[in-house]
Amino acid sequence: MSIAEISDKIKSDFISDKAQVMAEAVPEAVEALRLSYLGKKGKLTAVMEDLRNVSKEDRPAAGKAVNVVRQFIESEIEALKTQAKEWEISAILRQKPIDVTLPVSADVNIGSLHPVTHMRHKLNQVFKQLGFTIYDGPEIDTDFFNFSALNIPDHHPARDMQDTFYLEGSKNLLLRTQTSNIQIHAMLNEKPPLRIIAPGRVFRCDSDMTHTPMFHQIEGFVVDEGITFAHLKGTIDAFLKAIFGSTLATRLRPSFFPFVEPGAEFDVQCGLCHGKGCRTCKNTGWIEIGGCGMIHPNVFENVGYDSSQYSGFAFGFGIDRIAMNRFALPDLRQLFEGDYKFLGNFPVNAEG
Ligand code: PHE
Repeated sequence: MSIAEISDKIKSDFISDKAQVMAEAVPEAVEALRLSYLGKKGKLTAVMEDLRNVSKEDRPAAGKAVNVVRQFIESEIEALKTQAKEWEISAILRQKPIDVTLPVSADVNIGSLHPVTHMRHKLNQVFKQLGFTIYDGPEIDTDFFNFSALNIPDHHPARDMQDTFYLEGSKNLLLRTQTSNIQIHAMLNEKPPLRIIAPGRVFRCDSDMTHTPMFHQIEGFVVDEGITFAHLKGTIDAFLKAIFGSTLATRLRPSFFPFVEPGAEFDVQCGLCHGKGCRTCKNTGWIEIGGCGMIHPNVFENVGYDSSQYSGFAFGFGIDRIAMNRFALPDLRQLFEGDYKFLGNFPVNAEG
């Protein structure tokens, strides 16, 4: 038989062997087929070696015949390799069938909002409905914005109420101790009328069951002509009822903050005992929420507002404390430990 005839024979053998491999549909069979034709001891390789014994005149034609078959087999093997990958996947699927009717979330953990984030969203929403705009301010600020512009001069005892973190080597740069700094930023940047709430992180050198060195506050303030204490009281009452429920009473108690006059603290009736007194409210029947008051004329003066034309009120409170109360958490510090198991207790739609 001539080389050309042998090559043809190899080609037809290959075609029937390939049909066999296709029928088996086993990925390993493809490699075995490749080796038996193109491998070192493969059928075609042997013919290629025989070419050496062919006479010079016949060699080009014979060589061409072998090459045509070799190219044919090589391209067939390449196609089979792609096919083999599919066989592999089907084999895996056969071993471990996928039940497409199973619920998708069977072993998937869907994240949830952090209780503080959840509470902040809810509070933002309540204040937006009352016509407030959200404003932002810096967490690292100067003494002026955090203290002196807010009518808290140097050596004022009110500075001791809020143990301050100063930036290393600075007496002026500090981590804000209250979101009240945003009152000053907003009043310097904007013109009245203002109706602003400003949520943000604040920092105080303090840590126990009910205090953490970082916590979240919301500052609210309104500046316009003819703003009175009645507007303040109405706003506080409306937002507390929206968050804690409309059946609970709210109250203001006289208090002191240097940047307001008169100043007050505001409370909501304890939702657990409805005012009767229990452990949560330390038998007072009330839960303390935050501070408020009418913006002090000195503050207006510090930002260049005319206090004979404008008046305003401000209030501030901790978001975390409210979350703690609404979710009945014993320890405020849990909120900031990032414990996945703890955070998993607050489903996506948890009601504040
Ligand atoms: N900034 C005060 C605090 O952190 C709260 C407050 C804000 C009081 C606005 C009065 C008016 O305690």
